[in-house]
Amino acid sequence: MTPAPAMPAAIPDPPEALFPPWPERQRIDDYLTRELARAQERVAAGPATPTLDLEVFRRELARFDFTVPRPLPALLDWSMSVLEHGVVHLTHPRYFGLFNPAPSFPAQCADRIVGSFNPQVASSATSPAAVALEAHVIRMVAQRAGFPASCGGHFTSGGSEANYTALLCALTRAHPQFAADGARAFPGQPVFYTSKECHRSWVKIAHQAGIGRSAARLVATDGGGRMAPEALAAAIAADVANGHVPFLIVASAGTTNAGMIDPLAACADLAQRHRLWYHVDAAWGGAMIASEKLRGALAGLERADSATIDAHKWFATTMGCGMFLVRDATAQSDVFQVAASYMPSHEMSVDPYMNSAQWSRRFVGLRLFLSLAAAGWAGHAVHIERAVDQTAQIRAGLEARGWAIVNDSPLAVLSAVPPPARGEPRKVVERVLESGRAWVSVARFEERDVIRICVTHGETSAADIAILIESLTRS
Ligand SMILES: Cc1ncc(COP(=O)(O)O)c(C=O)c1O
Repeated sequence: MTPAPAMPAAIPDPPEALFPPWPERQRIDDYLTRELARAQERVAAGPATPTLDLEVFRRELARFDFTVPRPLPALLDWSMSVLEHGVVHLTHPRYFGLFNPAPSFPAQCADRIVGSFNPQVASSATSPAAVALEAHVIRMVAQRAGFPASCGGHFTSGGSEANYTALLCALTRAHPQFAADGARAFPGQPVFYTSKECHRSWVKIAHQAGIGRSAARLVATDGGGRMAPEALAAAIAADVANGHVPFLIVASAGTTNAGMIDPLAACADLAQRHRLWYHVDAAWGGAMIASEKLRGALAGLERADSATIDAHKWFATTMGCGMFLVRDATAQSDVFQVAASYMPSHEMSVDPYMNSAQWSRRFVGLRLFLSLAAAGWAGHAVHIERAVDQTAQIRAGLEARGWAIVNDSPLAVLSAVPPPARGEPRKVVERVLESGRAWVSVARFEERDVIRICVTHGETSAADIAILIESLTRS
């Protein structure tokens, strides 16, 4: 006689700390919404820079050994306080910083919605609506950038991933055996070209892709931060003569240091002449497609095989939300196609896991969808034009006080050099950061240190600009 099966042990209820009852969730959520609004008010009125003592914080952290659970409301207060005092505030209206924005409200709403549903965007079977929505936004953006109806692309974690994807598409198109054999398929070292002012993700990408950092040819600029087409042509000719295999030209449309735009049409001509993939890294500057008034500065973008435009830069979504746009949508599936029997859908041209580097992925596209749907291209145009106009005001204010602006960007970033009496750029920046009144940074532009000032917060006011100028010139 077979023994009766043992009674299963009683299954415990789900842990309440992880899955509180709904009324409790709602109460905490309401509290969080209210407290976050208050914290952001304090941020705007306080210093832009962190004030937290990191040593004290590390000691506090060490006490979290996760053996004794703590009540969530207290942990939320603690977390908000850590962020309020422990980071540089992108949400501060005097953050004149790197290209990361104060996020738009629609984008933040998207994050809440997505966090609640947590759809799996790897597959069109699991998230048909999310996948269709992202594809729609990508097509709209790509077509606005001048790409044809056959275009495609996808959301990425950011500009670095989008750039990496471009390089893989270029390599895959450059040699039919690259997919199977990697870099050794080429008869010589595959090499690509971008300017010495490019974003340094390109150097890492060369390493990651296995073609080696030396494959990134950092071409000379014209003295004004733009890739010099003659230097580019000469570099290609020298590589061909030496048995290397050029496969890609990358132009920057909005360099990270100084917002300069490479000669996009001349780079396109060279790519065409040498049959190279042409990528435009418009991670920040690409948002100018929203503005009828300013988008002319991007002429030539429409000739690219692919482009990077980050929603989490000048489109002001939360991070990470980049975009890879590609003229011929099949190029990305050529790179990322894969067979996986456990996946519930296998549609080559549709399924994100077969068209992009990521697999399980957050539904980030809703952020840009809601921003564009709520504000339209026109609303984003105002956001961009406002920043460009404010940049001109800062320029005028500094020049009137004897400063030099050494870049000539049509975008919203200045490379500023103080008069000698004020001291080195680095010293001036240190003083401004110590005061906490604004955030600016030091960058290298054409072999010299400059103060990099980028208008990136959508609500920076005339009073904020006056305080910035005062902080820079009097500190
Ligand atoms: C021109 C350019 N490309 C690429 C990137 C990398 O983007 P991310 O930081 O989103 O990876 C940046 C970042 O500032 C950039 O300015």
